[in-house]
Amino acid sequence: MKFFITGSSGFIGFHLSKKLLDKGYQVHGFDSMNNYYDVKLKKARYKILNKYKKFSFTKGKLENKKNLSNSILKFRPKVIIHLAAQAGVRYSIEKPRVYLDSNIIGTYNIIELAKKVNVKHLLIASSSSVYGANKKLPFKEIDKTETQLSIYAATKKSTESMAHAYSNIWKIPITMLRFFTVYGPWGRPDMALFKFTKGIINKKKIDIYNRGKMYRDFTYIDDIVDGIYKLINKAPNLKQLGKIKNDSLSPVAPFRILNIGNTHKVYLLNFINVLEKELGAKAIRNYMPMQKGDVKITLSDTTLLKKITGYNPKTNYRTGIKKFLKWYLDYYKN
Ligand SMILES: NC(=O)c1ccc[n+]([C@@H]2O[C@H](COP(=O)([O-])OP(=O)(O)OC[C@H]3O[C@@H](n4cnc5c(N)ncnc54)[C@H](O)[C@@H]3O)[C@@H](O)[C@H]2O)c1
Repeated sequence: MKFFITGSSGFIGFHLSKKLLDKGYQVHGFDSMNNYYDVKLKKARYKILNKYKKFSFTKGKLENKKNLSNSILKFRPKVIIHLAAQAGVRYSIEKPRVYLDSNIIGTYNIIELAKKVNVKHLLIASSSSVYGANKKLPFKEIDKTETQLSIYAATKKSTESMAHAYSNIWKIPITMLRFFTVYGPWGRPDMALFKFTKGIINKKKIDIYNRGKMYRDFTYIDDIVDGIYKLINKAPNLKQLGKIKNDSLSPVAPFRILNIGNTHKVYLLNFINVLEKELGAKAIRNYMPMQKGDVKITLSDTTLLKKITGYNPKTNYRTGIKKFLKWYLDYYKN
């Protein structure tokens, strides 16, 4: 089976590509290698993938349809996993336009091309942030999602709607993946665990929003990759309609939305305490007000994913932090 993976030099895309290559599949990666965060990290991930004979790569922007189209039409994948996006809630306050281009136009181009090459399954990254101001916990796929709090979340919600419409008209099998705060080795420098670790090691202040009174469903990268991997052969199909309770399968299209999370909410201050203990150093805490656009609590219900794939996240946050630190300290040892 041939996989086209966008965002292959990104955090999740790198791990997923590596897993597929390790299993012997052919992977074509696509990434702009943009400088939203340290490009060296993206290059280092790419270098690892590029060692595999079955890996090929195109550098390009999703918005540039010609380049994207050439690489997809030439490779003719059976499955497209679309992970490239402008991520980050905070940056979307400063640069909203980038999100519209990368996430909305970019996803539109991907869906158009998925239709053209008639993929067996198109999987697209969405986000837990689409649950926005929802109060009912845990978040379920069938809950209403009408109140996104950031432009980032709004673009992700837009891609869900657009994908549904395409799936309806062209019967493209599409799964939307709502990821919950992913962390682990090779993680993103703009995210909490990375920033806190760097700050503590360098004895610099760490900004803690809402004075730390937040909860996150931190999900370890291997669990995320495992969830995506198990879904590859589970493309939504209208024959499944009505067979699973609370299914998010569309009533008219081969389209489904799935949460992928750890299913535990971790108090941010506990998370920092564990990190301090593991590093054997205290953080210099800079308590800040709530960040605009952010949500206080995320918590996934993954019953549906479990029913479809047997998904069972294995790594709790204490173990996950240890594994992250092992990588971080080794990678930045010089
Ligand atoms: N990491 C998380 O906690 C998390 C949570 C929810 C959703 N997501 C979503 O999962 C996906 C992967 O996230 P990640 O954490 O690996 O992010 P990442 O930023 O590490 O990876 C995204 C990759 O996409 C590339 N990219 C960005 N815009 C592009 C464009 N216009 N054209 C081509 N390439 C482009 C970047 O260079 C980057 O390498 C994203 O869609 C993100 O929104 C991530």
